[in-house]
Amino acid sequence: MKLTGKGSIWFNGELVPWEKAQVHVATHALHYGSSVFEGLRGYPTADGGSAVLQLRPHMHRMVQSCKIVNLPLRWSEDELCDAVLATVRANGYGSCYIRPLAYRAYGQLGVDPSHCPVDLAVIVIEHGAHFGAEAAERGIEMGTSSWRRMAPDTLPAMAKSAANYLNSQLVILEARANGFTDGIALDAQGHVSEGSGANVFVVERGVLLTPNLGSSILQGITRGCVLQLARDAGIEVREVTMPRELLYCADELFICGTAAEITPVRAIDRKPVGSGSRGPITARLQAEFRALVSGAKPDRHGWLTRA
Ligand SMILES: Cc1ncc(COP(=O)(O)O)c(C=O)c1O
Repeated sequence: MKLTGKGSIWFNGELVPWEKAQVHVATHALHYGSSVFEGLRGYPTADGGSAVLQLRPHMHRMVQSCKIVNLPLRWSEDELCDAVLATVRANGYGSCYIRPLAYRAYGQLGVDPSHCPVDLAVIVIEHGAHFGAEAAERGIEMGTSSWRRMAPDTLPAMAKSAANYLNSQLVILEARANGFTDGIALDAQGHVSEGSGANVFVVERGVLLTPNLGSSILQGITRGCVLQLARDAGIEVREVTMPRELLYCADELFICGTAAEITPVRAIDRKPVGSGSRGPITARLQAEFRALVSGAKPDRHGWLTRA
């Protein structure tokens, strides 16, 4: 996602020009990973505005992430929602990616963060398809990572905390070095966990399967949308402990996330998934998702908030 360096950033309660949203090099979060963030999308509306997908669930997850990693936020969930909407409005992009970030700021050096205030920023950038239109149709190639997700008693996977993303960086860098678009990490027990920035779904004999919360995953908001859309379509869904080899036996495999949306996987570890091209359930879920976020179908679950 390219940074264009323009527009306004919501910075501790006020909208400031992009270049004014700066931090000091002694900022605690830079040294110790003590920050929590979110990633949301705004989709263009027919009247030239933007509608934010799943605003409240994202801001709820942000509050919960802060609670898990002990970041005392000075703003309520309602105020976070207002800050996101105000920043989207101020920037005026129809299609955008929104990044709220709460972090331990400038106070003291040392691991204990207690004496560092928690600051908050909301960044908005113009953004369209993440992996490109071709990937949405043809799918991407992925590899199983040699890096595992964090064991449950090491770092809390349910918190969208910056510290967890060093693990994600190891996963994606290894995958890219091996010629894949991204990697799928296993959990500490060797079960399928998730991608570097997306959840994993498998279709096996018409049933939609996805790793459960015990497999060190982020409880993806898009994952929740997919589960709901599948249920709406009468597709059986199960949250399971997923063996790695199910990836090789899958009829269909896809990843989903705010950035990735729903992206088919056409090969895993250089083995073709199913027929090697996008499967019918993946295509159907993609079409449903797109129809909903584009406004082509009514927002029956109340997922969109007009900025
Ligand atoms: C590690 C990880 N898993 C899953 C997801 C998907 O979550 P969501 O659908 O809420 O974007 C993300 C994306 O932010 C992620 O970073």
